[in-house]
Amino acid sequence: MANGLDTPWMDASLSRSTSTGIQISALHKRYGSGDTAVDALKGVDMQVLPGEVVGLIGPSGSGKSTLLKCLGAVIEPTGGTMVLGNEVIYDNGWLIPDLRTLRRDKIGFVFQAPYLIPFLDVTDNVALLPMLAGHSKRDARRRALELLEALDVAHRAKAMPSQLSGGEQQRVSIARALANKPPVILADEPTAPLDSERALGVIRILNEIAAQYETAVIVVTHDEKIIPTFQRIYNIRDGKTHEEKGQAKKNWQRKKI
Ligand SMILES: Nc1ncnc2c1ncn2[C@@H]1O[C@H](COP(=O)(O)OP(=O)(O)O)[C@@H](O)[C@H]1O
Ligand SMILES: [Mg+2]
Repeated sequence: MANGLDTPWMDASLSRSTSTGIQISALHKRYGSGDTAVDALKGVDMQVLPGEVVGLIGPSGSGKSTLLKCLGAVIEPTGGTMVLGNEVIYDNGWLIPDLRTLRRDKIGFVFQAPYLIPFLDVTDNVALLPMLAGHSKRDARRRALELLEALDVAHRAKAMPSQLSGGEQQRVSIARALANKPPVILADEPTAPLDSERALGVIRILNEIAAQYETAVIVVTHDEKIIPTFQRIYNIRDGKTHEEKGQAKKNWQRKKI
């Protein structure tokens, strides 16, 4: 069966051998200035290897969202360096002229709420980003169907988002995050609305994808159900990260997607 691995599109986007994953050094972020300035990140160091899924935990207000937004090029840090995939994207200033393209092609976002587009069916929700990246509608839809199959929601391919259960919507949003084969996936509380079985299913999928495509994945979470699944955890306190060993030992199996 065609799994997409032989198509030229996949060949081009699969060459990850030079990826360094995510490397963050001495990252600072100050909001505002003067008396009202808030130093949200005060020298964060973090490394996620290709194929690794790490947890990022910390109390409310500790800087988790700020860190993900800096990494996702949604806000600009005030200092430090960030490497994504095989590029230095920030070194005391952006080194990338087109941040929109960087976000579209290099970073997959998974949020707590799935944010599917209500007037597009499931397949088109997943196919949209590859189409924006220049792939034909036919190729983009074929890729979308492969991902939906891998995530066990292909039977809902023609449904509208409002017709899906919460777990199905979250799996579709993961398929969408993967559609452009980004070297980096950033997930902010991706399992919060899900029951235990579904939450662990989402983590299993993220681990399989990371292993299969050498994707570096960061999962921000408070979710006690999934914290034991990480091999490595960064705890963020007072704007600085502290690395901890997670409870998980086993390596996740590769799955063909
Ligand atoms: N846009 C902003 N302007 C000013 N301060 C902000 C802004 N966003 C976040 N902060 C502050 O930065 C700190 C870290 O916030 P945040 O990254 O949202 O933490 P978390 O996601 O861990 O709850 C907090 O003190 C918060 O009040
Ligand atoms: Mg937050």
